[in-house]
Amino acid sequence: MSSFIQRDKRTHYCGCVSPEDVGAEVVLMGWTHRRRDHGGVIFVDLRDREGIVQVVFNPEAGEAVHSEAHKIRSEYVLAVKGKVRQRPEGMENPLLSTGKVEVVVSELEILNDSKTPPFSFDEEDISENVRLKYRYLDLRRPSVQKNLFLRSRLAAATRRYFENNGFIEVETPFLTKSTPEGARDYLVPSRISKGMFYALPQSPQIFKQLLMVSGFDRYYQIVKCFRDEDLRADRQPEFTQIDVEMSFISEEDIMSMMEGLMAAIFKECLNKDLALPFPRLTYAQAISRYGKDNPDVRFGMEIVDITPVVKNSGFKLFNEVAASGGLIKAIKAEKASSLSRKDLDSLKDFVAIYGAKGLAWARINASDWTSPIYKFLSPEEVSGIVGALDAHVGDTIFFVADVPKVVNETLGNLRVHLAKKLNLIDPDALGFTWVTEFPLMEYSESEKRFVSTHHPFTSPFLEDLPLISTDPGKVRARAYDLVLNGSEIGGGSIRIHRKDVQAEVFSALGLKEDEARVKFGFLLDALEYGAPPHGGLAFGLDRLTMIMTKAESIRDVIAFPKTQKASCLMSDAPSKVGIEQLMELSLKIV
Ligand code: AMO
Ligand code: AMP
Repeated sequence: MSSFIQRDKRTHYCGCVSPEDVGAEVVLMGWTHRRRDHGGVIFVDLRDREGIVQVVFNPEAGEAVHSEAHKIRSEYVLAVKGKVRQRPEGMENPLLSTGKVEVVVSELEILNDSKTPPFSFDEEDISENVRLKYRYLDLRRPSVQKNLFLRSRLAAATRRYFENNGFIEVETPFLTKSTPEGARDYLVPSRISKGMFYALPQSPQIFKQLLMVSGFDRYYQIVKCFRDEDLRADRQPEFTQIDVEMSFISEEDIMSMMEGLMAAIFKECLNKDLALPFPRLTYAQAISRYGKDNPDVRFGMEIVDITPVVKNSGFKLFNEVAASGGLIKAIKAEKASSLSRKDLDSLKDFVAIYGAKGLAWARINASDWTSPIYKFLSPEEVSGIVGALDAHVGDTIFFVADVPKVVNETLGNLRVHLAKKLNLIDPDALGFTWVTEFPLMEYSESEKRFVSTHHPFTSPFLEDLPLISTDPGKVRARAYDLVLNGSEIGGGSIRIHRKDVQAEVFSALGLKEDEARVKFGFLLDALEYGAPPHGGLAFGLDRLTMIMTKAESIRDVIAFPKTQKASCLMSDAPSKVGIEQLMELSLKIV
């Protein structure tokens, strides 16, 4: 039987058939989303990447077509030819973009059959394990496809922006040496050099700096990075960066170039106009007012230090914490009458996660407070606190007293928790903020030494250099993160381009000259051959896509993601390998 598709090519995507096509003959190809048999007349919702259109099989189409149509089941792949017609009065489907029309089929070919899929594509709550095992089917679902289309537009907008601004895209190696982002490396054994390993790059950091030494001036790359770290809702073991480096620039140049990129991306992908420049917070301000270096600035509820008000309090806890160098800080939930007594009490368990030993609260009434600590406070303290927080009747204040780290972390997380609970976040708001002036290094309790906050090539503020040997924790880095809606979407810095400064930083990090040489000798060498002043930044493309699509999980914006256990349920990676493969690599499993 000669098939009509040898004569006729596809004319339309299913989702693109429109009232303008009424009367026209169309050829469509797609999957059977749904099939209904109305005693003689068979309706099929035919689906492709652009959407769904209803196709109709009338008995008048002839016995051959009609009996073939009886065989159609869910997800069968069809080619149909037919005439577009207006749907009869009252039969229109406002939920479909094609809902005003249907296609009356004259020819049908079943291109392939299908097993019954493990889930219905209309279901909302499909177990993620099943979705990931059958990811190729999950990816047929319009909600997931939509994310990948946006991701593709984001990448295209990025490339266009950088090409327009004189950047060159350069690929850097995956089989390389350990790179310095501070996570664990993924290692690849070498067959040729027995006992030796490549590391997959945690980022192209060193290579992009070398490209600046080479004189490329403006580099970008959309690139996979690999980090063996504990996974969370916004972390994957392999993820994608928009990686950038520029020469002969300052922080300001990079920040404004990146603001331009964000504006271009949001305009092209979501038709949103961003207000530029983005606001800025120093690290110290972010921690003090939001308790986090990735503050969500879409809502207020800022953290207020009330230590000066209560340091001499009759309330022993506040008094003692202040005397021992701790802080007493508070946040105010406005008109939070929806929080029941039980809610307030259960927050104790929430704050315990961050090491807080308790959470005091106060509901502000017209003439007093309802609060377990009211009786301990003097009238001056009460009015001082009300003044500091600008609290009004109906508001609820939360207090934490502890060492600064615990206070900030607890209130920073409680603030976000309460905002969600009290619905304070406008889902369409975009809260961008730069965070600047990070500490260059932090003391690591586990390693008993200072470690880089970013990576060891980050330039310190030159005026802070004298502190490097006396008070390393106080040295500020010329680093900046871009935060969107409480998520770190990018980070970067001005780099050290002089060998003497680099040596000083390595020594403050407890990294000996020969160790540094083994690790990054080629970069140190390069810095001796006329390295220009340079700096850059990298965005997490997956995280950015996640926010733009309002996805709950980073897995929803990656075609073939890994689970929290870093495995792929579809391909079963990682998996065992044969003994021959191990022998070839001189490896033995212990
Ligand atoms: P950084 O380590 O901050 O900087 O990474 C840049 C951005 O990448 C994203 N990101 C991740 N996304 C998903 N899963 C992960 N496991 C993951 N880890 C990081 C974040 C982050 O802001 N070389 C430097 C950049 C520079 O200094 O130019 C770097 O890699 O959104
Ligand atoms: P107590 O006198 O121990 O009952 O404490 C009075 C209130 O202070 C209770 O509501 C406790 O939850 C709260 N509280 C205890 N420790 C802290 C702390 N470190 N910071 C803030 N509030 C606390």
